[in-house]
Amino acid sequence: MDFTTKSGNIIKQRSACIVVGVYETRQLTPSAQQLDKLSRNYLSTALKRSDFRGKIGQSLLLHDVPRTLCERILLIGCGPEKNLNDTAYQKIITRIAIILNDAGIKDAISCLTELNVKGRDLHWKARQAVEVVCDTLYRFDQLKSKKNESPVIFTKLTQLVADQSDITIAKTALTEGYAIAKGVEMAKNLGNLPANICTPSYLATEAKNLVKKYPGIKVQVLEEATMKRMNMGALLSVARGSRQPAKLIIINYQGGKKTDKPVALVGKGITFDTGGISIKPAQAMDEMKYDMCGAASVLGTLTTVAELKLPINVVGVIPTAENMPDGNASKPGDIVTSMSGQTIEVLNTDAEGRLILCDALTYSERFKPVAVIDIATLTGACVIALGKHASGLLSNHETLADDLLKAGKQSTDRAWQLPLWDEYQEQLKSNFADMANIGGREAGTITAACFLARFTKKIHWAHLDIAGTAWKTGHHKGATGRPVPLLTQYLINRCN
Ligand code: BES
Ligand code: MN
Ligand code: ZN
Repeated sequence: MDFTTKSGNIIKQRSACIVVGVYETRQLTPSAQQLDKLSRNYLSTALKRSDFRGKIGQSLLLHDVPRTLCERILLIGCGPEKNLNDTAYQKIITRIAIILNDAGIKDAISCLTELNVKGRDLHWKARQAVEVVCDTLYRFDQLKSKKNESPVIFTKLTQLVADQSDITIAKTALTEGYAIAKGVEMAKNLGNLPANICTPSYLATEAKNLVKKYPGIKVQVLEEATMKRMNMGALLSVARGSRQPAKLIIINYQGGKKTDKPVALVGKGITFDTGGISIKPAQAMDEMKYDMCGAASVLGTLTTVAELKLPINVVGVIPTAENMPDGNASKPGDIVTSMSGQTIEVLNTDAEGRLILCDALTYSERFKPVAVIDIATLTGACVIALGKHASGLLSNHETLADDLLKAGKQSTDRAWQLPLWDEYQEQLKSNFADMANIGGREAGTITAACFLARFTKKIHWAHLDIAGTAWKTGHHKGATGRPVPLLTQYLINRCN
């Protein structure tokens, strides 16, 4: 996709298609009014003759409108002007991407940055348009033998803005939006790949590929033998049942001064979660290929950060393994010793995410990070609590939590905070070890975070549970690339 911006008079634009908004009920936006005037009411007349009222997503494609210089005008319904919020704007942009693509239009000029989106400025509108168009036209057909079932034809969007001073704002927005879209795309691709392709070794190779593309990035991959020497008994216990060796991938992005303390992003990389000996039911088990979406979001965010050359240091840490049942697999009741020295009774081998994360979190201390954020498809309970709209957020540092909540709102990739009170810690008591790896039925997302909190006492730490947000189920099954937009926004904010 190619995204540009320009300023200038709408009526002077030559293009295959111009996109203008119409509010309910048939109230023309300023650009639509200008085109209507130029064409001597052609637009308003056409609207009246059709059943177009301006409902969100309703559309009317006009060809060869008299006296205009463009080949087509796409009128898109924007709903009542006063209700135009983030979701409405996203729906409108999604619709135009689909309509333009289905109509076989290669490039278009959009005037939709002039829409009044509640509480949002030009930067947001221009950037969001880029992210939504890329999201809408995303295809994952690399494993289908017929690739052209729904080809992407629409490949160039120009967003028209009022004047020269807006161009600067829009250009920054496009750059950010495109970099975020790239990171999101990478996260989606990795998430959607099946577990027989996307193994821990595959993730390690993907990380190494970043080094070739971006000069600021260095990658190191720790093998099982090294992890054993470092006493990562919790992480290693998860991989015991698999033929695929576990890896610990470390990605260093240096955009700031050498001495600047980094932000560490720790992503859960279970490339398939069968549950292990505490095996999961067969229903929808295929979706457990998405159990590495935390890892994918770390790789995606680092891609975005490197694209934007952010003046900041970021270290990505990805513990990755496959959770399988086997004669050699961990058994319920096994006790393992983590890198921190704390012992863990593995009462349920399906609570494996926290086992790989705890050692990765302990390992992250060596980077002396300003903040550590782990991202994990950690608990089914989080899907029950928050559904698919918000990621769960738990943190031992209020400012860090506030910064992440804010970044979530800015990027429309929202998180919702849950409490991390000491009272919940009791649920992790074990009769035979320092702690159990499960905390019972109640407050499953919180007790999972409580477990991780025992390994992050020395650092400012936040945990994002993305079990509900990382992928979509049902008819449109697929990875979302979340929370790459949230994480990127947080890092951008840190630069200002
Ligand atoms: N990867 C799963 C969590 C998950 C399940 C995410 C379903 C999205 C959809 C995780 O490893 C897991 O199995 N968690 C258990 C924890 C339990 C055994 C304490 C869960 O949520 O059931
Ligand atoms: Mn599990
Ligand atoms: Zn899991």
